[in-house]
Amino acid sequence: MAAIETIELTKKYGELAALGGVSLSIPEGDFFGLLGPNGAGKTTLIRILTTLLRPTNGKAGILGLDVVKDRAKVRNLIGVVPQAMTSDLDLTGIETMDIYARFYGMPKKERQERIYELLEMVGLRERAKDLVATYSGGMRRRLEIARGLVHKPSILILDEPTIGLDPQSRHVVWELLEKFRKMDKLTILLTTHYMEEAETLCDHVAIIDHGKIVALDSVEGLKKQVPEKDIVELTISGVDLEKAIEWVKTVPTVKSCVNRDDALIIGSDNGAQAIPVLIEGLNKMGANINKALLKQLSLEDVFIHFTGRPIREEEAKKVSFLLGAGVPSKWGK
Ligand SMILES: Nc1ncnc2c1ncn2[C@@H]1O[C@H](COP(=O)(O)OP(=O)(O)OP(=O)(O)O)[C@@H](O)[C@H]1O
Ligand SMILES: [Mg+2]
Repeated sequence: MAAIETIELTKKYGELAALGGVSLSIPEGDFFGLLGPNGAGKTTLIRILTTLLRPTNGKAGILGLDVVKDRAKVRNLIGVVPQAMTSDLDLTGIETMDIYARFYGMPKKERQERIYELLEMVGLRERAKDLVATYSGGMRRRLEIARGLVHKPSILILDEPTIGLDPQSRHVVWELLEKFRKMDKLTILLTTHYMEEAETLCDHVAIIDHGKIVALDSVEGLKKQVPEKDIVELTISGVDLEKAIEWVKTVPTVKSCVNRDDALIIGSDNGAQAIPVLIEGLNKMGANINKALLKQLSLEDVFIHFTGRPIREEEAKKVSFLLGAGVPSKWGK
Protein backbone atom coordinates (compact mmCIF):
# COMPACT_ATOMS: atom_id res chain seq x y z
CA MET A 1 0.00 0.00 0.00
CA ALA A 2 1.24 3.50 -0.83
CA ALA A 3 1.92 5.85 2.07
CA ILE A 4 0.56 8.75 0.05
CA GLU A 5 -1.44 8.50 -3.13
CA THR A 6 -3.18 11.15 -5.20
CA ILE A 7 -5.25 10.58 -8.31
CA GLU A 8 -5.90 13.45 -10.70
CA LEU A 9 -6.04 15.88 -7.82
CA THR A 10 -7.23 19.38 -8.71
CA LYS A 11 -7.81 22.55 -6.73
CA LYS A 12 -9.32 25.58 -8.36
CA TYR A 13 -9.55 29.11 -7.05
CA GLY A 14 -11.99 30.65 -9.52
CA GLU A 15 -10.29 30.39 -12.90
CA LEU A 16 -6.89 29.58 -11.40
CA ALA A 17 -5.96 25.90 -11.18
CA ALA A 18 -3.57 25.84 -8.21
CA LEU A 19 -3.41 22.07 -8.84
CA GLY A 20 -4.16 20.84 -12.32
CA GLY A 21 -4.49 17.07 -11.99
CA VAL A 22 -1.71 15.70 -9.78
CA SER A 23 -1.23 11.93 -9.63
CA LEU A 24 1.44 10.65 -7.27
CA SER A 25 2.25 7.46 -5.43
CA ILE A 26 4.75 7.61 -2.60
CA PRO A 27 5.77 4.24 -1.15
CA GLU A 28 6.11 3.66 2.58
CA GLY A 29 9.55 4.55 3.90
CA ASP A 30 10.30 6.92 1.03
CA PHE A 31 11.87 10.34 1.47
CA PHE A 32 10.00 12.28 -1.18
CA GLY A 33 10.65 15.85 -2.30
CA LEU A 34 8.25 18.14 -4.07
CA LEU A 35 10.36 20.78 -5.76
CA GLY A 36 8.86 23.87 -7.33
CA PRO A 37 8.97 27.67 -7.51
CA ASN A 38 6.59 30.18 -5.88
CA GLY A 39 3.00 29.54 -6.67
CA ALA A 40 3.67 26.08 -8.12
CA GLY A 41 1.01 24.53 -5.89
CA LYS A 42 3.19 22.89 -3.22
CA THR A 43 1.36 24.29 -0.20
CA THR A 44 -2.00 23.62 -1.83
CA LEU A 45 -1.10 19.95 -2.22
CA ILE A 46 0.22 19.75 1.33
CA ARG A 47 -2.92 21.37 2.74
CA ILE A 48 -5.11 18.86 0.95
CA LEU A 49 -3.00 15.92 2.14
CA THR A 50 -3.11 17.22 5.69
CA THR A 51 -6.94 17.56 5.56
CA LEU A 52 -6.93 21.36 5.84
CA LEU A 53 -8.27 22.00 2.36
CA ARG A 54 -10.80 20.15 0.21
CA PRO A 55 -9.82 19.28 -3.34
CA THR A 56 -12.04 20.49 -6.17
CA ASN A 57 -11.71 17.13 -7.89
CA GLY A 58 -9.74 13.92 -7.69
CA LYS A 59 -8.68 11.82 -4.72
CA ALA A 60 -5.97 11.78 -2.12
CA GLY A 61 -5.22 8.95 0.29
CA ILE A 62 -2.95 8.44 3.29
CA LEU A 63 -2.16 4.76 3.94
CA GLY A 64 -5.37 3.83 2.16
CA LEU A 65 -7.57 6.36 3.99
CA ASP A 66 -9.35 9.13 2.14
CA VAL A 67 -8.26 12.62 3.24
CA VAL A 68 -11.79 13.97 2.94
CA LYS A 69 -13.87 11.07 4.29
CA ASP A 70 -11.45 9.82 6.96
CA ARG A 71 -10.13 13.14 8.18
CA ALA A 72 -9.74 12.25 11.84
CA LYS A 73 -7.97 8.95 11.19
CA VAL A 74 -5.68 10.58 8.64
CA ARG A 75 -4.72 13.25 11.17
CA ASN A 76 -3.54 10.61 13.61
CA LEU A 77 -1.29 9.05 11.00
CA ILE A 78 0.50 12.21 9.92
CA GLY A 79 2.76 14.75 11.53
CA VAL A 80 2.75 18.20 9.97
CA VAL A 81 5.24 21.04 9.87
CA PRO A 82 3.56 23.96 8.03
CA GLN A 83 5.38 26.50 5.87
CA ALA A 84 4.89 29.44 8.22
CA MET A 85 6.24 29.11 11.77
CA THR A 86 3.25 28.39 13.94
CA SER A 87 4.68 27.77 17.40
CA ASP A 88 3.24 30.14 19.99
CA LEU A 89 5.82 32.65 21.24
CA ASP A 90 4.16 32.84 24.66
CA LEU A 91 4.63 29.15 25.45
CA THR A 92 7.75 27.29 26.53
CA GLY A 93 9.19 24.43 24.50
CA ILE A 94 7.64 21.83 26.81
CA GLU A 95 4.23 23.52 26.82
CA THR A 96 4.25 23.63 23.01
CA MET A 97 4.85 19.90 22.88
CA ASP A 98 2.46 19.07 25.70
CA ILE A 99 -0.52 20.82 24.12
CA TYR A 100 -0.08 18.75 20.98
CA ALA A 101 0.44 15.51 22.88
CA ARG A 102 -2.76 16.13 24.90
CA PHE A 103 -4.59 16.94 21.71
CA TYR A 104 -3.72 13.44 20.51
CA GLY A 105 -4.89 11.99 23.81
CA MET A 106 -1.52 10.66 24.97
CA PRO A 107 -1.44 9.54 28.62
CA LYS A 108 0.66 11.66 31.00
CA LYS A 109 3.59 9.30 31.49
CA GLU A 110 3.96 8.51 27.80
CA ARG A 111 3.63 12.19 27.02
CA GLN A 112 6.42 13.22 29.34
CA GLU A 113 8.79 10.53 28.11
CA ARG A 114 8.17 11.28 24.48
CA ILE A 115 8.48 15.05 24.91
CA TYR A 116 11.83 14.85 26.68
CA GLU A 117 13.13 12.27 24.23
CA LEU A 118 12.20 14.49 21.28
CA LEU A 119 13.50 17.71 22.82
CA GLU A 120 16.78 15.94 23.53
CA MET A 121 16.98 14.75 19.93
CA VAL A 122 16.43 18.20 18.47
CA GLY A 123 18.97 19.74 20.85
CA LEU A 124 16.47 21.75 22.91
CA ARG A 125 16.53 19.82 26.19
CA GLU A 126 18.43 22.62 27.91
CA ARG A 127 16.03 25.28 26.61
CA ALA A 128 12.87 23.25 27.20
CA LYS A 129 11.55 25.57 29.90
CA ASP A 130 12.34 28.81 28.07
CA LEU A 131 9.74 30.76 26.12
CA VAL A 132 9.66 30.13 22.37
CA ALA A 133 9.99 33.93 22.02
CA THR A 134 13.60 33.55 23.15
CA TYR A 135 14.44 30.89 20.53
CA SER A 136 16.31 31.55 17.28
CA GLY A 137 14.58 30.76 13.97
CA GLY A 138 16.47 27.48 13.68
CA MET A 139 15.54 26.45 17.24
CA ARG A 140 11.90 27.26 16.61
CA ARG A 141 11.93 25.17 13.46
CA ARG A 142 13.51 22.25 15.35
CA LEU A 143 10.82 22.54 18.01
CA GLU A 144 8.12 22.46 15.34
CA ILE A 145 9.61 19.31 13.83
CA ALA A 146 9.66 17.67 17.27
CA ARG A 147 6.05 18.80 17.80
CA GLY A 148 5.05 17.19 14.50
CA LEU A 149 6.44 13.88 15.74
CA VAL A 150 5.02 13.87 19.25
CA HIS A 151 2.22 11.36 18.53
CA LYS A 152 4.54 8.98 16.64
CA PRO A 153 3.03 9.48 13.19
CA SER A 154 3.87 7.13 10.30
CA ILE A 155 4.25 9.98 7.86
CA LEU A 156 5.89 13.35 8.38
CA ILE A 157 4.83 16.12 6.01
CA LEU A 158 6.88 19.32 5.93
CA ASP A 159 6.19 22.42 3.86
CA GLU A 160 9.46 24.26 3.14
CA PRO A 161 11.03 23.26 6.47
CA THR A 162 14.22 25.26 6.04
CA ILE A 163 12.90 28.39 4.37
CA GLY A 164 14.51 31.51 5.75
CA LEU A 165 17.06 29.58 7.84
CA ASP A 166 20.77 30.28 7.59
CA PRO A 167 22.86 27.57 5.90
CA GLN A 168 24.12 26.13 9.20
CA SER A 169 20.64 25.78 10.71
CA ARG A 170 19.48 24.29 7.43
CA HIS A 171 22.11 21.57 7.70
CA VAL A 172 21.10 20.86 11.29
CA VAL A 173 17.49 20.34 10.15
CA TRP A 174 18.67 18.01 7.37
CA GLU A 175 20.61 15.90 9.85
CA LEU A 176 17.60 15.74 12.14
CA LEU A 177 15.30 14.59 9.37
CA GLU A 178 17.76 11.85 8.37
CA LYS A 179 18.00 10.75 12.01
CA PHE A 180 14.23 10.65 12.60
CA ARG A 181 13.66 8.88 9.37
CA LYS A 182 15.91 5.99 10.36
CA MET A 183 14.79 5.84 13.96
CA ASP A 184 11.04 5.94 13.45
CA LYS A 185 10.99 4.31 9.99
CA LEU A 186 9.12 7.36 8.79
CA THR A 187 7.84 8.20 5.35
CA ILE A 188 8.75 11.83 4.74
CA LEU A 189 7.24 14.24 2.24
CA LEU A 190 8.76 17.68 2.05
CA THR A 191 8.37 20.60 -0.28
CA THR A 192 11.27 22.84 -1.08
CA HIS A 193 12.65 25.20 -3.62
CA TYR A 194 16.22 24.56 -2.46
CA MET A 195 17.84 22.26 -4.98
CA GLU A 196 20.54 21.19 -2.54
CA GLU A 197 17.90 20.16 -0.01
CA ALA A 198 16.14 17.90 -2.48
CA GLU A 199 19.44 16.52 -3.76
CA THR A 200 20.82 15.81 -0.30
CA LEU A 201 17.77 14.27 1.32
CA CYS A 202 15.34 12.80 -1.14
CA ASP A 203 15.03 9.31 -2.62
CA HIS A 204 12.56 10.63 -5.17
CA VAL A 205 11.83 14.12 -6.39
CA ALA A 206 8.81 15.45 -8.26
CA ILE A 207 9.20 18.77 -10.02
CA ILE A 208 5.97 20.73 -9.82
CA ASP A 209 5.26 23.81 -11.93
CA HIS A 210 1.97 25.67 -12.45
CA GLY A 211 0.06 22.98 -10.55
CA LYS A 212 1.37 20.06 -12.58
CA ILE A 213 4.04 17.44 -12.03
CA VAL A 214 6.47 17.89 -14.92
CA ALA A 215 8.97 15.19 -13.88
CA LEU A 216 9.27 12.52 -11.21
CA ASP A 217 12.21 10.20 -10.55
CA SER A 218 15.23 9.68 -8.32
CA VAL A 219 17.71 12.57 -8.48
CA GLU A 220 20.02 10.40 -10.63
CA GLY A 221 17.07 9.33 -12.82
CA LEU A 222 16.05 12.96 -13.34
CA LYS A 223 19.57 13.85 -14.40
CA LYS A 224 19.58 11.02 -16.93
CA GLN A 225 16.44 12.44 -18.51
CA VAL A 226 18.31 15.62 -19.48
CA PRO A 227 20.05 15.30 -22.87
CA GLU A 228 22.84 17.79 -22.07
CA LYS A 229 25.85 16.24 -20.36
CA ASP A 230 27.71 19.38 -19.31
CA ILE A 231 26.82 22.84 -18.15
CA VAL A 232 28.91 25.84 -19.15
CA GLU A 233 28.36 28.97 -17.11
CA LEU A 234 29.57 32.21 -18.65
CA THR A 235 29.40 35.56 -16.92
CA ILE A 236 29.62 38.25 -19.56
CA SER A 237 29.16 41.98 -19.91
CA GLY A 238 29.14 44.59 -22.66
CA VAL A 239 26.50 42.98 -24.90
CA ASP A 240 22.76 42.55 -24.99
CA LEU A 241 22.13 39.26 -23.15
CA GLU A 242 19.12 38.29 -25.26
CA LYS A 243 21.15 38.68 -28.46
CA ALA A 244 24.01 36.69 -26.94
CA ILE A 245 21.61 33.89 -25.95
CA GLU A 246 20.17 33.78 -29.46
CA TRP A 247 23.62 33.33 -30.94
CA VAL A 248 24.82 30.81 -28.30
CA LYS A 249 21.89 28.56 -29.18
CA THR A 250 23.24 28.25 -32.75
CA VAL A 251 26.64 26.91 -31.64
CA PRO A 252 27.11 23.18 -32.40
CA THR A 253 26.91 20.93 -29.24
CA VAL A 254 24.82 23.61 -27.45
CA LYS A 255 21.40 22.27 -26.46
CA SER A 256 20.02 25.09 -24.33
CA CYS A 257 20.86 28.53 -22.98
CA VAL A 258 19.14 30.63 -20.34
CA ASN A 259 20.02 33.72 -18.35
CA ARG A 260 20.37 33.22 -14.60
CA ASP A 261 21.42 36.23 -12.54
CA ASP A 262 23.24 37.72 -15.54
CA ALA A 263 25.18 34.55 -16.27
CA LEU A 264 24.54 32.42 -19.33
CA ILE A 265 23.73 28.85 -18.32
CA ILE A 266 24.51 26.72 -21.34
CA GLY A 267 23.67 23.03 -21.69
CA SER A 268 26.02 21.19 -24.03
CA ASP A 269 26.90 17.69 -25.25
CA ASN A 270 30.55 18.58 -24.93
CA GLY A 271 31.32 21.54 -22.69
CA ALA A 272 35.09 21.39 -23.16
CA GLN A 273 34.71 21.69 -26.92
CA ALA A 274 32.04 24.39 -26.70
CA ILE A 275 33.90 26.79 -24.38
CA PRO A 276 36.57 28.08 -26.84
CA VAL A 277 33.98 28.46 -29.61
CA LEU A 278 31.64 30.34 -27.26
CA ILE A 279 34.35 32.66 -25.96
CA GLU A 280 35.61 33.50 -29.45
CA GLY A 281 32.13 34.16 -30.79
CA LEU A 282 31.04 36.25 -27.82
CA ASN A 283 34.26 38.27 -28.00
CA LYS A 284 33.52 39.00 -31.62
CA MET A 285 30.09 40.30 -30.57
CA GLY A 286 31.93 42.72 -28.25
CA ALA A 287 31.34 40.84 -24.98
CA ASN A 288 33.76 40.74 -22.08
CA ILE A 289 34.00 37.27 -20.55
CA ASN A 290 34.23 37.80 -16.79
CA LYS A 291 34.00 34.15 -15.72
CA ALA A 292 33.76 30.77 -17.44
CA LEU A 293 32.88 27.56 -15.58
CA LEU A 294 32.40 23.98 -16.74
CA LYS A 295 30.13 22.08 -14.35
CA GLN A 296 28.48 18.72 -13.93
CA LEU A 297 24.73 18.64 -14.29
CA SER A 298 22.96 19.67 -11.07
CA LEU A 299 19.35 19.36 -10.02
CA GLU A 300 18.99 23.06 -10.80
CA ASP A 301 19.92 22.30 -14.42
CA VAL A 302 17.33 19.52 -14.43
CA PHE A 303 14.78 22.02 -13.21
CA ILE A 304 15.69 24.44 -16.02
CA HIS A 305 15.40 21.63 -18.54
CA PHE A 306 11.86 20.75 -17.45
CA THR A 307 10.48 24.22 -16.75
CA GLY A 308 12.53 26.39 -19.11
CA ARG A 309 13.64 28.69 -16.30
CA PRO A 310 15.67 28.68 -13.09
CA ILE A 311 14.29 28.94 -9.57
CA ARG A 312 15.49 32.23 -8.22
CA GLU A 313 16.03 31.38 -4.64
CA GLU A 314 16.35 34.82 -3.14
CA GLU A 315 13.21 36.09 -4.81
CA ALA A 316 11.41 32.93 -3.85
CA LYS A 317 12.42 33.30 -0.24
CA LYS A 318 11.17 36.86 0.01
CA VAL A 319 7.79 36.19 -1.53
CA SER A 320 7.22 32.95 0.33
CA PHE A 321 6.97 34.77 3.61
CA LEU A 322 4.10 36.76 2.23
CA LEU A 323 2.26 33.95 0.47
CA GLY A 324 1.89 30.27 1.19
CA ALA A 325 0.63 28.63 4.32
CA GLY A 326 0.54 31.91 6.20
CA VAL A 327 -2.46 33.15 4.21
CA PRO A 328 -5.37 34.27 6.36
CA SER A 329 -7.63 31.38 7.29
CA LYS A 330 -10.65 33.03 5.65
CA TRP A 331 -8.91 32.12 2.36
CA GLY A 332 -8.87 28.44 3.21
CA LYS A 333 -11.33 25.76 1.99
N1 LIG B 1 -6.73 30.77 -0.83
C1 LIG B 1 -6.35 31.08 -2.07
N2 LIG B 1 -7.12 31.84 -2.88
C2 LIG B 1 -6.73 32.14 -4.14
N3 LIG B 1 -5.60 31.69 -4.70
C3 LIG B 1 -4.79 30.94 -3.96
C4 LIG B 1 -5.11 30.59 -2.60
N4 LIG B 1 -4.12 29.81 -2.10
C5 LIG B 1 -3.21 29.70 -3.10
N5 LIG B 1 -3.61 30.36 -4.20
C6 LIG B 1 -2.90 30.41 -5.49
O1 LIG B 1 -2.64 29.08 -5.90
C7 LIG B 1 -1.36 28.97 -6.48
C8 LIG B 1 -0.54 27.94 -5.72
O2 LIG B 1 -0.23 28.44 -4.43
P1 LIG B 1 0.62 27.62 -3.35
O3 LIG B 1 0.60 28.38 -2.08
O4 LIG B 1 0.14 26.24 -3.34
O5 LIG B 1 2.07 27.65 -4.03
P2 LIG B 1 3.46 27.19 -3.41
O6 LIG B 1 4.09 26.28 -4.41
O7 LIG B 1 3.29 26.69 -2.04
O8 LIG B 1 4.28 28.57 -3.41
P3 LIG B 1 5.38 29.13 -2.34
O9 LIG B 1 6.71 28.57 -2.79
O10 LIG B 1 5.32 30.60 -2.54
O11 LIG B 1 4.99 28.70 -0.96
C9 LIG B 1 -0.76 30.36 -6.49
O12 LIG B 1 -1.01 30.95 -7.73
C10 LIG B 1 -1.53 31.05 -5.37
O13 LIG B 1 -1.60 32.44 -5.59
MG1 LIG C 1 4.04 27.23 -0.25
